[in-house]
Amino acid sequence: MFPLLLLLLATAHGLEELSYKPTLAGPELGGLTTNSTFVLEQPRCVFTKAQGDAVIWLVVAISKAVPNFNNSMGLGTFQGFPTTAPAYMTLNTTLLNYPCPKSPGEITVLRVGSETSCVRDETRPTCNGPLPGPGPYQVKFLAFKDSKPVAETGWSDPITLKTAQPLGSTPAMGSRHSAGMIALTSILSILFAILLAGLMAMLVFHSDAYGGSSIFSKPEAVTVQRYNTHHVYDQPAARL
Ligand SMILES: *[C@@H]1O[C@H](CO)[C@@H](O)[C@H](O)[C@H]1NC(C)=O
Repeated sequence: MFPLLLLLLATAHGLEELSYKPTLAGPELGGLTTNSTFVLEQPRCVFTKAQGDAVIWLVVAISKAVPNFNNSMGLGTFQGFPTTAPAYMTLNTTLLNYPCPKSPGEITVLRVGSETSCVRDETRPTCNGPLPGPGPYQVKFLAFKDSKPVAETGWSDPITLKTAQPLGSTPAMGSRHSAGMIALTSILSILFAILLAGLMAMLVFHSDAYGGSSIFSKPEAVTVQRYNTHHVYDQPAARL
């Protein structure tokens, strides 16, 4: 009953629900997901019924905000995303930029998160800035005409980004490291302890053998005989 009511409301407001779901571009199109960006297929031949001068926006939302998402109240600024805003709109372009059909060989992708200059610029709330974490995110395209939403696609599947290299690989490597390090340190400490024990035993033995006198208490053993080296300097002169 409730979804039906929503659908009726949406129709009443003239918002056309399209069955298309935004999809990640394939790897052959450089559809590499990084730790702050992902690449989408452009919505080609999707908004055929929306009028030619519609402006198409991309809505980026955190996945957990999607079930209760409301186009009118859910949209915030990129700068507030995702702490104060569960979603923001970006990559606005006129439908003319998504011509249908696309020419063969044409690269028709959108990189979400590629703009770094406006990350903290509050005057650019629609900044296509780097995504603030691994997500998951969901996106949909929304068509506006005369500042009113007229059509929208479905939500994409959840998109999870790569965890940042320094954050993702270091703890794993760090724990492996520390395990190895602990083993190595233990072995080294044991070896060192054995060595130290041996040395102590040798010292004790040594001092016992010499009737209790330590080898270090023999000053004459380390006394260096002084020589008068004066004649050494005279030698070459004498030979000439
Ligand atoms: C996209 O949105 C910005 C900010 O609202 C606006 O200045 C710009 O003209 C828009 N571009 C298009 C193609 O609609």
